[in-house]
Amino acid sequence: MILDGQTKVYGIFGYPVKHSKSPTFQTAAFQHLGINAVYVPFEVNPESISQAVESLRVLKISGVNVTIPHKESVIPYVNELSDEVKVIKAANTIKNVDGYLIAYNTDWYGFVEGLKELEPTIEGKKVLVIGAGGSSRAIIYGLLKEGVDKIYLANRTVERAKKLLNEYLQHFKVVDKIIHPISLTDINEIVKEVDIIVNTTSVGLNDEDFPLFNYDFIEQRHTVVDIIYKETKLLKVAKEKGCKYQNGYPMLIHQGAKSFEIWTGQKAPIDVMKKSLNLHY
Ligand code: ATR
Repeated sequence: MILDGQTKVYGIFGYPVKHSKSPTFQTAAFQHLGINAVYVPFEVNPESISQAVESLRVLKISGVNVTIPHKESVIPYVNELSDEVKVIKAANTIKNVDGYLIAYNTDWYGFVEGLKELEPTIEGKKVLVIGAGGSSRAIIYGLLKEGVDKIYLANRTVERAKKLLNEYLQHFKVVDKIIHPISLTDINEIVKEVDIIVNTTSVGLNDEDFPLFNYDFIEQRHTVVDIIYKETKLLKVAKEKGCKYQNGYPMLIHQGAKSFEIWTGQKAPIDVMKKSLNLHY
């Protein structure tokens, strides 16, 4: 790679950011297509987020991804929100058009495209989504866009799931016929009704974490997604039972691919991006 005075700069805002895989696969994509650009990690302290966003204008940085904990806090400082950001209330991508900053969310798209690698038709499916935080909001947006039949939204704090439903009712009519907030303890009763199981919480990150429900109820016909970047206990059981399953990497790659396309207008080389992370799924 040869850098020169015309090299464009992209990056990621996070805190922490040092574990991010995005610099690796985004750089691989730029190199593969011969685009004169770099993609670098920016560790941005939470209290500095407004200055970091302003720095995009000052330094003419072409675009950034935004990750935890900044996905919501960047919103007041950009010039325009895409439609999905208005609903999800979180942004993971900013594009700089001559100092005019547009925020996008590609997480929902990444989730849907990742899931389609296992399950080409999502429309009409019944889905259990565990967790009602920021990741869940994006995933539910994607599932609604795809036309799922039912979403059981299970959360430790059921009130938070109900709040999410009420907010989404303002954007998607009759969504109360699709989303059903339940508590974690209700999951065992409804697992038999669903086709797809998605964990969006951090439970499972540590091997000693408690199971989210009784995993004996998982059947081979279930498709299981855990957005954590490892083979969690949930995924181990899915594997043992012969289910189709995936961890968080497909979602990561596809959200990044969409960001790449928003920035460059070029089709992202998905296989090159996957290969750069040694992902063979
Ligand atoms: P993210 O942006 O990654 O989704 P978040 O917005 O902080 O993160 O949401 C975390 C989700 O994981 C929430 O649904 C949270 O449940 P609560 O709303 O009840 O807090 C869930 N979560 C985190 N730790 C959990 C735990 N130990 N047990 C059950 N749920 C947990």
